[in-house]
Amino acid sequence: MARARSVYACTTCGAQQPRWLGRCPECGAWSTLVEEAAAGAGAGAGAPRDLLRVEPGPGGGAKPRQLREIEASATPRRATGIPELDRVLGGGLVPGSVVLLAGEPGVGKSTLALQLAAGLQALGPFLYVTGEESPEQLRLRAQRLPVVPEQVFVLAETRVESLVEPWRALAPAVVLVDSIQTLATDRVESAPGSVAQVRESAALLASTARASGAALILIGHVTKEGTLAGPRVLEHMVDVVLGFEGDRGQAFRLLRASKNRFGSTQEVGVFRMTGAGLEGVANPSELFLAQRRSGAPGSCIAPLVEGTRPLLVELQALVAPAGYGTARRTCIGIDDGRLALLLAVLDRRGGVDLVSRDVYVNVAGGLRVVEPGGDLALALAIASSRLEIPLPADVAACGEIGLGGEVRRVARSELRVREALRLGFRRVLVPEGTQARAPAGAECIEVREVADAVAWLRASRSVHTPVNNG
Ligand code: TYD
Ligand code: MG
Repeated sequence: MARARSVYACTTCGAQQPRWLGRCPECGAWSTLVEEAAAGAGAGAGAPRDLLRVEPGPGGGAKPRQLREIEASATPRRATGIPELDRVLGGGLVPGSVVLLAGEPGVGKSTLALQLAAGLQALGPFLYVTGEESPEQLRLRAQRLPVVPEQVFVLAETRVESLVEPWRALAPAVVLVDSIQTLATDRVESAPGSVAQVRESAALLASTARASGAALILIGHVTKEGTLAGPRVLEHMVDVVLGFEGDRGQAFRLLRASKNRFGSTQEVGVFRMTGAGLEGVANPSELFLAQRRSGAPGSCIAPLVEGTRPLLVELQALVAPAGYGTARRTCIGIDDGRLALLLAVLDRRGGVDLVSRDVYVNVAGGLRVVEPGGDLALALAIASSRLEIPLPADVAACGEIGLGGEVRRVARSELRVREALRLGFRRVLVPEGTQARAPAGAECIEVREVADAVAWLRASRSVHTPVNNG
């Protein structure tokens, strides 16, 4: 008999290679390939390669139906009792669906899971499979939450096959696994948390859930280093992928869908971690601006858009003379490449001398700014710190900045300006061509170049009325 064949799978992206490599050719990660037994190795060897010559076997499979003859039924949804979660799911949890909730350790996945259990208790039994915490730990944690869930059954188990009996006996409406990395099936020999285990256990659970009609929620850890089998290997077999983000040191958390078979991936949910669990935040802008101290140089408000929601954040910068050696550029919440670009543009096109200066930038509240609409505000915050001119308290700015120093238009500018206005920012620096769509009561100051914005800032010190550079 031939030796059992093995393959090498990347723990980050799941791609398989016939031999070990130092770097995964698919995703480019280093030292992530681990040996695994090839699935179905040897089985079916020598069978015809042409599918049309294969004997179909008993049953013969299902017959194809005309697409237009298939009845389109509305997807039934169950509100989870957590409005911010419902928003991201697209209205609620779909029975029989498989949801992956991924996030770094400590972000609050288990807390959200318990609150979800409380919110869904009207649906029927909720089976909480815990492979990480003991049931006692879970109980202690639940005591801190506003509602102690009643129809929740806790099972400390890490073997997939052992879930069969309780699953049958309880007939749960929802099964939650915390976390998929702790589970293992007898079908695969590799260790829990390996790509093969995670993939096989999840596939087994997903098909069981689909057959039984229960909704399945899988909690998955992601680490920045990607050492554990990343949820990416699961993405194709689940219906919804939710990512839970946030800095452990900060209170707020963002929930985003990166895949949703039943809704859009445009929505974000905003939560705050409190002493009594996660609390939905209906007006996130207010949360991010709560501790703002206006009147100091180096701060500018940016109306961003997350999904379809406007979000006002404060971008902060500190420019200081550099010591010996190269100048330091440190950013929190902003891509460092983006910062380098903005500094170069400000220096070369905006006339703000940043040579031999240390630059630190930060997004207040711990948010990560990924959209380019925050460029103009960040450039203004940096210029404001360098020139020591505070921005007027009622000013916000939005716009993308290009390498030529041009300020480009951003999507949903009207929504942004309206949100700024709602929170008391009367004047908004905007890219050229945006003014026409300004809501009543707001004053849009159009800027074409980053130099115009800097000129406006300089002018705002002497004159207390805005200068239109549009
Ligand atoms: P946890 O849900 O355990 O995170 P994960 O399952 O993603 O690893 O909780 C993360 C942190 O939240 C933990 O350090 C304690 C804190 N926490 C609160 O601040 N308030 C609470 O009510 C609870 C339950 C947890
Ligand atoms: Mg946990």
